[in-house]
Amino acid sequence: MGKLVRFGICMDETLLKNFDSFIHKKGFKNRSQAISQCLRDFLSQELDETPEQETTGIIILVYNHDKRELVDTLIDLQHEFVENVISTLHVHLDHHNCLEIIVAKGVAKNLKSLADKLTSVKGIKQGYFKAVIP
Ligand code: NI
Repeated sequence: MGKLVRFGICMDETLLKNFDSFIHKKGFKNRSQAISQCLRDFLSQELDETPEQETTGIIILVYNHDKRELVDTLIDLQHEFVENVISTLHVHLDHHNCLEIIVAKGVAKNLKSLADKLTSVKGIKQGYFKAVIP
């Protein structure tokens, strides 16, 4: 973490009230902590701007494991990106549905490519990618 810098922000009063309410509900200690987290979250979505940046990210997938072709494709893709995939957590949600959380590390463009391929496999019910900026 770099050194802390103080700066001022002007914003719509209603927006600030809503933000303060959000901060209270989420349990943040102060606006600085909440704004820092929001900015990290915002910046992590802009990986297209920094394709060569070293990044860590998580990919979340929900799917029906009865579709064996889908499962095979997910495994093949993870082996294709073996340099990037660090860990995979598999949770059996019920008799048919599975949740998979894949942690990956590498240059942003590779992680985006892996995430795009995984989340667009036919039969994926929900797919998310989130880059992490410490
Ligand atoms: Ni399962």
